[in-house]
Amino acid sequence: MIVLIGFMGAGKTTVGALLAERLGLPFQDSDQVIEARERRTVREIFAGDGEAAFRRIERSVVLDLLDGPDAVLALGGGAVEDPVTRSAVARATAVHLVVTAHHVLQRVGSDPGRPLLASSDLADLLARREPHYDEAASIRVLTDGRPARVVADEVMARLSERVYPGPDSSG
Ligand code: S3P
Repeated sequence: MIVLIGFMGAGKTTVGALLAERLGLPFQDSDQVIEARERRTVREIFAGDGEAAFRRIERSVVLDLLDGPDAVLALGGGAVEDPVTRSAVARATAVHLVVTAHHVLQRVGSDPGRPLLASSDLADLLARREPHYDEAASIRVLTDGRPARVVADEVMARLSERVYPGPDSSG
């Protein structure tokens, strides 16, 4: 199981789909599974029930996905805020796609489907979550200004190092 985590706009869905294709695995996006299960959009869940309710639904969906068949999973940017979700993710192979606030705004700044972008101070939220991403992920890959294909190449390379570090590795 490969799990992609990171802030909104890091490219988890795009990179995840590329990785799934290369690894010959199915791709699942937790927000899409939540919307299908709830028959509501993420935006509607936030507006109707609030963020805490969304996190509970998200936790149950992510735990189910992690228990399911091998896949590449892209998680919503706030999934790691929930401690149960976070420790379950940490037990899988998780990759943190790192993005800075400037690039978040460039990529998804005006997306009405991302309710937290409108209401929060982005830089504060990002800073608060950084340690959670790093706690859950064993691999970190920078995404700023890099095409998804290049990011996917680096993730592939880092994953293969983990399987076999190679003779030059100092361990
Ligand atoms: C959220 C990120 C969104 C979505 C929801 C909340 C967040 O997913 O789960 O709007 O708290 O950062 P993406 O990271 O895929 O945009």
